[in-house]
Amino acid sequence: MRINAPLNVMSVDSINVARVAEEFELDSEFTWGSNVKITGKSGAIHKFDLVVTSKKDENVKVAVLHGISEDLVSDIMKFNAIAGDCGISLKALVINKDLDDTELNLTHMYNIITIDQRQESKPKTAVFGVKELDESLGGAMKRGNVYMVSGKTGVGKTTTCTQFLVQGARMGEKGAIILTDTRGSEYIANAKTFSFGFEEYYKEGTIEVIELSDRIRELKEGVLDSLKNREKYISKLTGEISRIIIESNITRLAIDPITPMIVENDDFVNQFIMNLAIPKTFMIVTSPVMKSDLSMYGIEEYFVSGVIKLEVDDPTTGLRKASIVKMRGGSYNPYPFYYKITTKGIVSPQSEKEPKGSSIFKRVNA
Ligand SMILES: Nc1ncnc2c1ncn2[C@@H]1O[C@H](COP(=O)(O)OP(=O)(O)O)[C@@H](O)[C@H]1O
Ligand SMILES: [Mg+2]
Repeated sequence: MRINAPLNVMSVDSINVARVAEEFELDSEFTWGSNVKITGKSGAIHKFDLVVTSKKDENVKVAVLHGISEDLVSDIMKFNAIAGDCGISLKALVINKDLDDTELNLTHMYNIITIDQRQESKPKTAVFGVKELDESLGGAMKRGNVYMVSGKTGVGKTTTCTQFLVQGARMGEKGAIILTDTRGSEYIANAKTFSFGFEEYYKEGTIEVIELSDRIRELKEGVLDSLKNREKYISKLTGEISRIIIESNITRLAIDPITPMIVENDDFVNQFIMNLAIPKTFMIVTSPVMKSDLSMYGIEEYFVSGVIKLEVDDPTTGLRKASIVKMRGGSYNPYPFYYKITTKGIVSPQSEKEPKGSSIFKRVNA
């Protein structure tokens, strides 16, 4: 089954193997086999159209289904079941046609990545630079809209904002974070301790850190008393924000959290979010949760274009869970993924596990 793959001859029954490997970031370090038989935990022998295995870690296997049959729905279900029996969690469906809704839903539900061979492989726009999150979003987040990252204290909202800006900076985009309840110096001191490179981008000015001044409180007074007050406040605040963005040529903005800028009123929040959106700009706002499990006032989620919900899954291990609960006008994966926060930022829990078979003893070399 393990055949070394010369990079120029890589089509197995017309599946582009390199494309599969690329999709799962196996670099060029992989082997593959077609019509591979694997014995599952149940004892049954299963056959896969293609299995691509990482050379670095042979536990990393991608099972591939070639979606050519008439009854793709039952093929996908069977494929998911046999991959499960074989302990293979990385799954791909290679297609040359459009999937119907049922097929598409199944691939989402089973976490099967579809690879459309009619399309050129293109680097997906990485919004956060966090593999699972970007994959779940599947390109559904758009510039010019406002998205919300929700969750309790400590789930990772601020870290998500920082990685969002760092990812932009890596691609040459200028970004800013507006802090509404933390001192800039505190935020910077913490963000620096991550290893994803915040400090360099901050120093060179690619990421700006902005504090909201205490004046917001007096500015907000009486904001619900009249329509005029409301409009004055909203246009002043959102006007200042867009001025900063335009002056500094910023294309990514995070507001962390949005709560101190708004009041508990549907029309207000609606108008505020509408005015906040800036063309060509990726924008995320965060919200702690209180009146609903998505926001402070329980209304914010209705007016943003999408919500990423963060939760603590297991307080004893620090395991957290992220799910996309709303994303207008895009195909995304609604099934949650699990993560931890380490000095590397948001990481998948697997990446922390010790490599299988590693010994507790270590030989000392001369
Ligand atoms: N520099 C860091 N290095 C490692 N872990 C960190 C660092 N900063 C924060 N964390 C961890 O990430 C968690 C989430 O932090 P944060 O993103 O500030 O959450 P939130 O903004 O949702 O309150 C913290 O509780 C802590 O466990
Ligand atoms: Mg925070």
